[in-house]
Amino acid sequence: MQRIYLTFVVLFLFIAGVSAQTNNKLVAASFARGKTVYLQRCMVCHQADGGGVPKLNAPLDASTAVNGSDVAKLIKYIVKGFADRVEIDGELYSNVMPAAADLKDEQIADVLTFIRSHWSNKAGPVTKLQVKQTRSKLK
Ligand code: HEC
Repeated sequence: MQRIYLTFVVLFLFIAGVSAQTNNKLVAASFARGKTVYLQRCMVCHQADGGGVPKLNAPLDASTAVNGSDVAKLIKYIVKGFADRVEIDGELYSNVMPAAADLKDEQIADVLTFIRSHWSNKAGPVTKLQVKQTRSKLK
């Protein structure tokens, strides 16, 4: 009896370990693809170090919103663009962020996964499904 119990425990730990590893690999792949999107579409304004340009383009490194839990807001900025001229962490930025609506759901998830966990940022990944669901509600 005890043997059977132990076998199940070992099996469970093995499966949990393998699925955690698979998930880590998926996130790493998304991060790598997101970096490519960033270099092609975002870096020109937000800069390689994520620091942005003072008074012109908001920084993404150490930003409250980028590290925050309102992922839908971040998805919206990319799909619809962003030029609200509201204070971001106490500063105003005068440039206009163009919509990047041509990006696929996966590319948006990837670039957000990248910016949320690069530089000093330590927020969790964004999935394709989250982008799909948020996008379908945007007008
Ligand atoms: C033409 C320049 C430009 C490009 C290209 C650009 N952005 Fe932006 N981004 C801005 C500006 C300007 C703001 C602030 C807008 C405002 O204050 O109204 C901003 C704001 C943001 C914010 C909000 C930051 C915060 O702290 O609230 C995020 C997130 C963001 N951009 C991500 C991206 C991503 C990801 C890409 C690439 C897909 C991108 N941006 C491309 C100029 C740009």
